Amino acid sequence: MKIIKKVLMCNPKYFSIKYSINPWMNRRIAINRARAQIQWQRLAETLDSLNINIEEIKPQKENPDMVFTTDAGLLRKKTFVLSNFKHKERQKEKRFFIQRLKKKNYLKIVELSEESFFEGGDGLTYGDKVLLGIGFRTNLKASREIQKHLNCEVINLKLKDPKFYHLDTCLLPIDEKSVAFYPQAFTSSSIQKIKTICPNPVVIKEKEAFNFAANSIISQNSAVVQKNNQNMIDILKQKGKQVFAINVSEFFKSGGGIHCMACSVFEN
Ligand code: ARG
Repeated sequence: MKIIKKVLMCNPKYFSIKYSINPWMNRRIAINRARAQIQWQRLAETLDSLNINIEEIKPQKENPDMVFTTDAGLLRKKTFVLSNFKHKERQKEKRFFIQRLKKKNYLKIVELSEESFFEGGDGLTYGDKVLLGIGFRTNLKASREIQKHLNCEVINLKLKDPKFYHLDTCLLPIDEKSVAFYPQAFTSSSIQKIKTICPNPVVIKEKEAFNFAANSIISQNSAVVQKNNQNMIDILKQKGKQVFAINVSEFFKSGGGIHCMACSVFEN
């Protein structure tokens, strides 16, 4: 079972909606920074209580989405594949993440070629496989390169609903044998692929999908989940997880939830 030991987080000091690169983002909607701060602190405290070590990266005024550190890249074993952000609005984040992660001597940091697009929110480890969300932020060229770098089976899943533009918004690996997913976010052939790697996937209902139920953090026997997702919470409990339900609703305004805000940088 995956145990997350260390995550990288970024304080939401400069979190705001300055541009719109997904359908959740509306520049006219203001962020309540005080509330965002409280919600983010609560997430950090919850992870800390699970013995997950929190490291921080300095927030940058010109990068309002940097709070979503998961998008920095994807860790598997000790290799970290850096993202090549699709939108120019977020491309400026990359150099800060490189600087920060290069300090970690145990990590092998790899970069993708220029025409490859990939964002960490599209990469999820599932047992010894990697699942990739293809279509909005990640392309097949990146997938082929990731497969080479990580030297493991990579399963490409095509996303079709722009509201679920990253794989971590619509699919959650629960353990080595089970995933939960929101079928409407995937093409029919990708739904079939999901059923091949997990014969009885948990189906996330529309209401909970839109309440970021998939965007949870699971480490060993614990799960951190957005509150008011009772079905998801019950299922995780049935699967033996201790569930911590918290609220990060302020970040929904940017299309992000719990999983987006803690990039795993060390796991067992
Ligand atoms: N506003 C951010 C974007 O559109 C949200 C990123 C959420 N990250 C995630 N891993 N789902 O890029």
